[in-house]
Amino acid sequence: MSQGYSLLDEASLEGRNTFRVPARASVLADVICAEAIGDLFAYDLFSNGPLLVLGEGSNILFAGDWPGAALAIRAHAITVLHDEGEAARVRVDAGANWNDFVRWSLGHGFVGLENLSLIPGTVGAAPIQNIGAYGVEAGEFIQSVEAFDRQTGSMQRLDRAECGFGYRDSVFRRMPERWIVTAVEFELPRRREFRLDYAGVREELDRIGAEGTPRAAQVAEAICRLRTAKLPDPMVIGNAGSFFKNPVLAAADAHALAQRHPGLPVFASVDAGTRKLSAAWLIEACGWKGRRQGDAGVSDRHALVLVNHGRASGAQILALARRVAADVFARFGVALEPEPRIVGARWETPQ
Ligand code: FAD
Ligand code: EPU
Repeated sequence: MSQGYSLLDEASLEGRNTFRVPARASVLADVICAEAIGDLFAYDLFSNGPLLVLGEGSNILFAGDWPGAALAIRAHAITVLHDEGEAARVRVDAGANWNDFVRWSLGHGFVGLENLSLIPGTVGAAPIQNIGAYGVEAGEFIQSVEAFDRQTGSMQRLDRAECGFGYRDSVFRRMPERWIVTAVEFELPRRREFRLDYAGVREELDRIGAEGTPRAAQVAEAICRLRTAKLPDPMVIGNAGSFFKNPVLAAADAHALAQRHPGLPVFASVDAGTRKLSAAWLIEACGWKGRRQGDAGVSDRHALVLVNHGRASGAQILALARRVAADVFARFGVALEPEPRIVGARWETPQ
């Protein structure tokens, strides 16, 4: 370990993914200090072969083994770079747990991340799909991302514009084998208006007696309560949160579909010409909520969450996902796209 990383050959990844499906990598490196990445690349397996960067495995489905090296950044320091009273610049190592960081930020009097409470995973994975919940996205607070660029073999700093954040999207997600995120720099304000418009948030604040002018910690508590009530806990039943992205359609197409299918929720999207549909609603309307094929199932609590009832393989969960997407396409003409990264198989868009 003195070299800043540890290596394990023929590593099992079963305990490293929240679906808890079996999978292996030829070698797994746990990197304690990011400076050691350069040394690791002296090994052919890391510099030339396929490389999987793994966080806490809460947004990945192993439909097969990983045919090469895997690497996880374990450094987790939080450092205040400068603090100008109104806001501060904070640098967080990629291996820090996201929710620990959210709690740290609230505990230090910053606001903004409260709506992103309880999202599983690491800080390093947050920019990959620009994690978001309850009307807020991490990209709003990210100033820059430090990443090792496998293409040039050097460390790079990408500012927010270069990260290309979108709904569950970024340059990192589009080029998964190129970037190893080592740290993220945030700009955290001390004052900011809360975003309370997402369905259920104000009602939950009322329930905990925090209506009127809530504090950030109370907003966080309301979000945690909503999330806990809606989403199955991966510690109890294997899952990766939403399995599909909410489909984004041209506004006219979304409204035409909603007219044909009364009750279909249509949400605003960043781009004024498009609308987001509820994938959960489409799946539930096809009768999939709570159904299972062997140990692979659709959660009975939330139709967008696929679950592992026990001994499902990743390939079986993927087969179920394909059936669900095929049914949604046949009934609504809408092609669902998976949110988690799928390893060991290709996703084919239903048509
Ligand atoms: P992993 O699952 O390990 O990796 C995910 C992807 O990021 C992979 O492609 C991986 O290669 C890449 N990656 C990870 N770390 C790095 C790195 N350091 N450098 C380069 N690439 C990297 N997501 C939301 O946006 N909003 C939610 O509300 C939400 N709710 C969830 C609820 C549950 C119960 C679960 C299980 C998941 C939920 N998710 C949600 C998805 C998940 O929490 C996020 O995508 C999270 O950021 C994944 O973090 P991770 O460390 O587990 O990443
Ligand atoms: N709905 C159903 N059936 C269900 C569940 C929901 O019809 O079983 C409908 C309801 O009409 C509800 C609507 O779907 O009003 C939206 O549901 P919810 O508020 O749970 O949000 P979501 O669109 O399903 C998205 C994110 C979540 C995030 C929440 C809150 C995506 C793909 N998912 O889910 O993120 O936590 O909003 O902001 O955008 C994740 O990415 O893993 C994730 C959990």
